[in-house]
Amino acid sequence: MRPSKTELAEMLKIDRFPRASKYDPEWVLENQMGPNSLWLAEWLCETMRLEPGMRVLDMGCGKAMTSVFLAKEFGVTVWANDLWIKPTENWKRVKEAGLEARVFPIHAEAHALPYANGFFDAIVSLDAYHYFGTEDLYLSYIVRFLKPGGQLGIVVPGLVRDFEEVPEHLTRPQKNGGVFWGEDCWTFHTLEWWRRLWARSSLVEVESTELLPDGWRIWRDWEKVLDLTGPHMFPPDHEVLERDGGRYMGFVQMTARRTEALSWSE
Ligand SMILES: C[S@@+](CC[C@H](N)C(=O)[O-])C[C@H]1O[C@@H](n2cnc3c(N)ncnc32)[C@H](O)[C@@H]1O
Repeated sequence: MRPSKTELAEMLKIDRFPRASKYDPEWVLENQMGPNSLWLAEWLCETMRLEPGMRVLDMGCGKAMTSVFLAKEFGVTVWANDLWIKPTENWKRVKEAGLEARVFPIHAEAHALPYANGFFDAIVSLDAYHYFGTEDLYLSYIVRFLKPGGQLGIVVPGLVRDFEEVPEHLTRPQKNGGVFWGEDCWTFHTLEWWRRLWARSSLVEVESTELLPDGWRIWRDWEKVLDLTGPHMFPPDHEVLERDGGRYMGFVQMTARRTEALSWSE
């Protein structure tokens, strides 16, 4: 039987993320597209400095939950940019949240962004940057949209340690038939891999890199909630995350600031 709203609220309430815990659990479940993006956003915002009035790009915002969260929690103005989710759908959610003046849904591919150079105070990306940001030259493309000194912060699913061959427990089918490791998982990388990608660039100063402590446990607990409230688009992965026990899977966070240096193509 599906848990009641009160039970769901209790399950999604974790001390680690007090801001995210306040949001309507049904809204969070209805608009999720993977791991709980509000938890990931709150973790990122412990490191980034977002202040009221800042212009923020939420890259790969999905159903714009994190855009709503950032506008509500930090008073920033957000351009909610996504590819798969249509802006009209996100606009409906934005209006329901009463944020018409501070969240603007945009439909744009990550390599063809319709913004002015130097426009944003901050760019964030939750559970999305790995889809478009692993190429060597992508950083130099996206930082042009930041003003000098502007902040870039991402959280991606990543690897605790690297491997040559995929560990068997990540490919073994789960009882629900779902297989965790698909081809898109080759975009999962270690914290060291991500740091190296950005640290060699003269366009940014890397400020922090971190693995979410106990990230696998938080992820597993979220997937358990999905299991109790399904069916969802993808079968939940708590079984494989349990098997993994944090040996390989986790969340990587990285933040940086744009330096004064201009990109070659700016
Ligand atoms: C797993 S979903 C996460 C969505 C949202 N950030 C969240 O956590 O709920 C990944 C998002 O990345 C976006 N995305 C993937 N490739 C993209 C691209 N090339 N350009 C723009 N967005 C992209 C998709 O549209 C999708 O909504």
